[in-house]
Amino acid sequence: MAVAPLAPKGGLEGIIAGRSALCEIDGETGKLLYAGYDIADLAEHSSFEETCWLLWHGELPTQPELATLAQALGANLEPRATVWDVAADAPECADPMDLLRTQVSLLGMSDPDCADNGEHADHAKAIRLVAQSGVLVATSERIRTGLRPVDPDPTRSIAWNLLHLLHGDEPDEQDVRAVDVCLILHAEHGMNASTFAARVTAATLSDIHSAVVSAIGTLKGPLHGGANERVMELLRQLPDVDGTRAHIEQLLANRKRVMGFGHRVYRTEDPRATILRRHSRDLGERHGDTRWYELTVAVEKSVHQLKGLYPNVDLYSASVYTSLGFPQRLFTPIFAVSRMAGWTANIIEQHRDNRLIRPDSEYVGAPPRPYVPLSER
Ligand code: CMC
Repeated sequence: MAVAPLAPKGGLEGIIAGRSALCEIDGETGKLLYAGYDIADLAEHSSFEETCWLLWHGELPTQPELATLAQALGANLEPRATVWDVAADAPECADPMDLLRTQVSLLGMSDPDCADNGEHADHAKAIRLVAQSGVLVATSERIRTGLRPVDPDPTRSIAWNLLHLLHGDEPDEQDVRAVDVCLILHAEHGMNASTFAARVTAATLSDIHSAVVSAIGTLKGPLHGGANERVMELLRQLPDVDGTRAHIEQLLANRKRVMGFGHRVYRTEDPRATILRRHSRDLGERHGDTRWYELTVAVEKSVHQLKGLYPNVDLYSASVYTSLGFPQRLFTPIFAVSRMAGWTANIIEQHRDNRLIRPDSEYVGAPPRPYVPLSER
C-alpha cells in the first residue's frame, strides 16, 4: 500500500486526522466556533453548563434541558472516597496533574458503568467526569495544604463550586462569572494534542476514563496545557514593565521559547487570548492589583516586536487565574477541568462512529541485515 509522504516539518502538521462536528477553527482569521457558535458569543452570553450540553448534544439546551443537566451535575459532584486517600498520600513533590490523572484512573475502575461503552453510559460518565474534576482539583489542593475540605453545593454552578471549594468561602459573583468564561474558552479546541490522544485511546474501543487519562497526561506538557504555569513563572522572573524587553531579548537570544505564544493553527491572535486579555485587566482592576496584567501586556508587546508571534490562550490565562487566587500549580489542572467537556464530547463522537486510528510511520532505520550471535558482537 502506498504511504502518504510525511509533512515537511513532521508533527502531523496540516493532516486531517478525523471528522468532527464539535469545533471549527479558522487559523487565518482567528475564529473559533463550537458547533457553529462563535466563542465570543458563548463567552458573552453562555455558561459552562450550557457549553457542555452544546458539545455533548450539538445544540444549545432548552430551559428544561439545562435544568436537567444542572441537576445531574449537582447530583454527581461527590467522587468515590478512595480519591482522597491518594491526595493525602501523594508525595509533596507530586504534580497536581499526575494526581488528577491517577484520581480519574481510580474513578474509572469503580464507575458504575465501567464495562459499558454505549452512548447512554458514555453520557452518564461524561457528566460524572465534568462534575467531579473541579471537586478533585480543588479539594485535593486543600487536603495537600492541610486545609479542611469544604462541601460542594449541588445547587450552584461548576464555576461557583471551583472557587468555593478552593477558597472555602462564598465567592464573589463577578469572579464566578470570570471562572465561567475561562471554562467556556478552554472547553474545546479541535484536534489538539490531548484530544487526539483521547481519540486514539477511544478508537481502540477502550473506555472514556482511559481516554481521559491519556488526555490528561498529554495536556500536562509545557508545549500544550502546561504552558500556562510557565507563563506565570516567566511573569514572576520579570523585574518590572521597563525591564521586560531586555529579559525577552535574552530568552530569545538563548533560543528559548516564550510560553503563551505561537500556535500550530492560528496565524493571528488566538481569539481566546483577546477575551482573556480583557478579563485579565478587569480582574486586576477589581482586585486592586494590575501588576500581572501590565507585565503580560509588556511581554506581549516585546514578543510581537522581536519575533512576530501572537499570544495563545495560555498567555492571559496566567494573570487571570492569579487574580482569581488560583495557585500556579493548579493552572493546568483547571484547564483540564474545562477541557473535560471537550474530551468527553470527542470520545462520545469517536465511539459513535469509530474506526481504529492507526497511522503509518516512515522507516528510516538500518537496512535488512543478518542476526549476529551475542558471542560475535
Ligand atoms: N517562542 C519562541 N519561538 C517560537 C515560539 C515561542 N513560543 N513558538 C514558535 N516559535 C518559533 C520556533 O522556534 C520556530 O522557529 P524556527 O523555525 O526558527 O525554528 C517557529 O516559531 C515554528 O515553531 P514550531 O515549534 O515548528 O511550531 P509548532 O506549530 O510546532 O508549535 C507551539 C506550536 C504551540 C508548540 C509553539 O508555538 C510553542 O512552543 N509555543 C510555546 C508553548 C505554548 O505556549 N503552548 C501552548 C499552545 S496553545 C494552548 C494549548 O494547546 O494548550
